[in-house]
Amino acid sequence: MQVVVLNGVNLDVLGRRDPKLYGGVSLGDLETRIYEWASQLHCHVRCRQTNNEGEYVGWCHDALDWADGVIANPGAWTHYSYAIRDALELLTVPLVEVHISNVDEREEWRRTSVIADLAAKRVIGKGPDGYREALEFIVEESKK
Ligand code: DQA
Repeated sequence: MQVVVLNGVNLDVLGRRDPKLYGGVSLGDLETRIYEWASQLHCHVRCRQTNNEGEYVGWCHDALDWADGVIANPGAWTHYSYAIRDALELLTVPLVEVHISNVDEREEWRRTSVIADLAAKRVIGKGPDGYREALEFIVEESKK
């Protein structure tokens, strides 16, 4: 069971972003938690983050060869990147869309997600724990 977590633009500076929205957790802390949850759930996880859209698309393509599930938080790209949507559309494994903050209760433009209909599940506004929920979902799906 192999899962890739694809964090996108500006998630490298997570710990510096508004703690009321993002919980004050750094990307390193978040990834440490994700690896702990993965070991509790007996799955292998690879966490990746980039601020380069082309690199993110490349990692979506790479996931086609080995991942049993994908957790994607493309950051602001979520709201407009058809390039990332096209890449994620190639997946045949479960995709979970995660947002740390509650995008549905922020600015109007954040309510649009160009990947929402590709996702088997969306986890929104649950803070860093949203990644655990996403991982649990993918593990449960693999048992079906
Ligand atoms: C985010 C929400 C996006 O609107 C924002 O641009 C981000 C982070 C989240 O995890 O809450 O960078 O995806």
